Amino acid sequence: MSDNSILLEIDNITAGYNGEVIIKNARFNVFEKDFIGVIGPNGGGKTTLIKTILGLIKPFSGQIKYYGENSNDQLIGYLPQVHYVDKKFPISVRDVVLSGLMSKNRMIKRFTKKEKLKADEEMEKMGISGIRKKPIGELSGGQLQRTFLCRSLISSPQLLILDEPNNNVDNKFESDLYKILRELNKTIAIMMVSHDIGIISTYIKTIVCVNRDVHYHQSNIINEEQLRAYNCPIQLITHGEIPHTVLKTHVHDH
Ligand SMILES: Nc1ncnc2c1ncn2[C@@H]1O[C@H](COP(=O)(O)OP(=O)(O)OP(=O)(O)O)[C@@H](O)[C@H]1O
Ligand SMILES: [Mg+2]
Repeated sequence: MSDNSILLEIDNITAGYNGEVIIKNARFNVFEKDFIGVIGPNGGGKTTLIKTILGLIKPFSGQIKYYGENSNDQLIGYLPQVHYVDKKFPISVRDVVLSGLMSKNRMIKRFTKKEKLKADEEMEKMGISGIRKKPIGELSGGQLQRTFLCRSLISSPQLLILDEPNNNVDNKFESDLYKILRELNKTIAIMMVSHDIGIISTYIKTIVCVNRDVHYHQSNIINEEQLRAYNCPIQLITHGEIPHTVLKTHVHDH
């Protein structure tokens, strides 16, 4: 398949909660090996859009068409914005990773040897093999993110969705994460919510602005005028000398 095969078609979605419309006019495709940056103000509806794509919220109107090779259940890996971790719950890193194989259709908690090997492999890649038996209550923010990242990848998804993965983590995890994502993006599509568009612009290919209205921007460069036109009042964070423009070749050095 070429890079231009469609994985997902978001066809004019309106969605929200209890009858209240939160997002509207969401209309874009996710292509194979895409890298979409999702931006917008707090409360704009970014997480709502993601939950709709994941099928956790049923849209009021419009539809999402899934074209992946895998079953819908495994098409998408998801790293949620907030992890609800019961610090006292005695579940190990490895069990959390394996739980990524459970789904609506599969609640049994017995895994094959192959699945366990896959878990080991993911943990190895993410550098958390050494802590695989640790209870998750004892992990640092970065270790927890790595664990959940393994969890979202164990089903070999064709699309990985990350909702602000760099919040509350150390710089080391953040720079490792970008390396990991760049590597993953050679084979799978990525959709990532981030407030720091200046940093992610090196990695992303297209931008989705979400401020109730959803706008698709088919480039990784966006300026304030365009953001205004999209009614997307976010501050562009620039680290270089060109103001008001997302830098294409931003070098992030920590
Ligand atoms: N479960 C829910 N029930 C009712 N309203 C909700 C629910 N979840 C979110 N909302 C409302 O929907 C709106 C959009 O929230 P959402 O979490 O999608 O925004 P966001 O862009 O992800 O914000 P943030 O940047 O803070 O994560 C907010 O006004 C929020 O209060
Ligand atoms: Mg959110």
